[in-house]
Amino acid sequence: MSKRPSISFAKFAAVESGTAILLVAAEGKVAAEAESVVGPALLSRIIDVSEFKGKLAATLSTIAPAGTELERVILAGAGDPAKLNGDDWLKIGGAALSKIGTAKNVAVVLALPGAGITAENAAEFALGMLLRSYTFDKYKTKKDNGDGEKQEKFAAKITIHVADPQAAKKAFANAEAVAEGVILARDLVNEPANILGPVEFAERVEELKKLDVRVEILTEKDMKKLGMGSLLGVAQGSVRPARLAVMEWHGAKGKDKPIAFVGKGVTFDSGGISIKPAAGMDEMKGDMGGAAAVTGLIHALASRKAKVNVVGIIGIVENMINGDAQRPGDIVTSMSGQTIEVLNTDAEGRLVLADALYYCNERFNPKFMINLATLTGAIMVALGVYRAGLFSNDDVLAGQLFDAGQATGEKLWRMPLGDEYDKLIDTKNADMKNIGGRHGGAIIAAQFLQRFVGGTPWAHLDVAGTAMGSPATEYNQSWASGFGVRLLDRLVRDHFEG
Ligand code: BES
Ligand code: MN
Ligand code: ZN
Repeated sequence: MSKRPSISFAKFAAVESGTAILLVAAEGKVAAEAESVVGPALLSRIIDVSEFKGKLAATLSTIAPAGTELERVILAGAGDPAKLNGDDWLKIGGAALSKIGTAKNVAVVLALPGAGITAENAAEFALGMLLRSYTFDKYKTKKDNGDGEKQEKFAAKITIHVADPQAAKKAFANAEAVAEGVILARDLVNEPANILGPVEFAERVEELKKLDVRVEILTEKDMKKLGMGSLLGVAQGSVRPARLAVMEWHGAKGKDKPIAFVGKGVTFDSGGISIKPAAGMDEMKGDMGGAAAVTGLIHALASRKAKVNVVGIIGIVENMINGDAQRPGDIVTSMSGQTIEVLNTDAEGRLVLADALYYCNERFNPKFMINLATLTGAIMVALGVYRAGLFSNDDVLAGQLFDAGQATGEKLWRMPLGDEYDKLIDTKNADMKNIGGRHGGAIIAAQFLQRFVGGTPWAHLDVAGTAMGSPATEYNQSWASGFGVRLLDRLVRDHFEG
């Protein structure tokens, strides 16, 4: 079992008991503050004998030398101190945390030779620790961490020693809000679909009211009135009714136009009548990763009281196959008035987003809309699982998003849009069809979305490869990553607050 560590900051001081975590830069170089914990001779002996090179996020755990009250010394590699970015600090924090086991009392000496570590860096290191401590184990009835003893892992009290604890504490308050948002998104994605359907998801969204977020939940009746035939067509094959959740955070003064985030929330995607193959279908419980990221983001922004007006809108449906299920060939009318020939019921995410995006634009006239969706398998063919696809009708917004990706490690890669792709969804039976040809599937899906955003600056992030099932990292060991929360928090922080 694991529990979140509790983290605080203090000025550099002697570490006399418990576990000490020391940073080691490339070539085994250490700061004087680290040397003073066990003495310079002993520390350099530990480093030499273990051949610890200080590679970024490398770790070494060793029993503390005799003659001290310490229990353990953990070395955490930081590579070249001059080259560290925010993502690197998360990795170092995550890697360091992974070594503490069931220790109760941990001190981190956050110092590197020849490098000033900022309060922001300290907060990022701590954020890495928090995110690494996350596990989805609520359905494990035997709370056993594998060593036969029922001790809690990562339940430590961690004191991070820094030069300016006040500043670090302040930066960490924001980081903690972001951590909560990421963890909320991971929890939602990890939750199985029998537990988390559209109604249950909407209930989780309503909990954001505690943070002074305005939440409105539209029912199927409301959506019918609005003419959301595209979204409702997807939902009609499930006994579980659809919901559309609208979250509003007013953190800026006056009537500033809001910025908007829209998410695909398919709580389970069976494919519908165009049913998916059995292998891996379980993963489609995570087909609401975009909606989860939007919810986590709004949670983060509200809990750190971001000075921005934001709207989050998520379309939540289950794509199932009862006797009422949508058929291939059905033609639905979207809220925009545009008609859609549904040639493949498994291309359902775009049908949900068509109405969610149009509604968002009509109702809020936002500065821009960014949607997140586990939209296509094709984006994984194109980019693998290390970058999400970025599609946009606005070069400035695309650039800001790309940069936020590089800074946070939630990386993006821009993909093209264009008339030649747009034509591929024309059909003689309706205004458009929901699939194109064999090639360029991720682009075709993006073209479809673009038909519902008017002239508003817009970006679509295809997170099919990054929201779930992505490889374990130093700061994420769970199936769900929470991808998008840190990225978009960073975008807001860098460009839209103040
Ligand atoms: N939810 C899937 C996309 C997906 C696949 C996400 C794998 C995560 C992992 C989406 O609804 C879908 O089924 N897309 C189809 C579109 C096709 C029918 C045009 C796809 O990608 O195969
Ligand atoms: Mn599908
Ligand atoms: Zn889907």
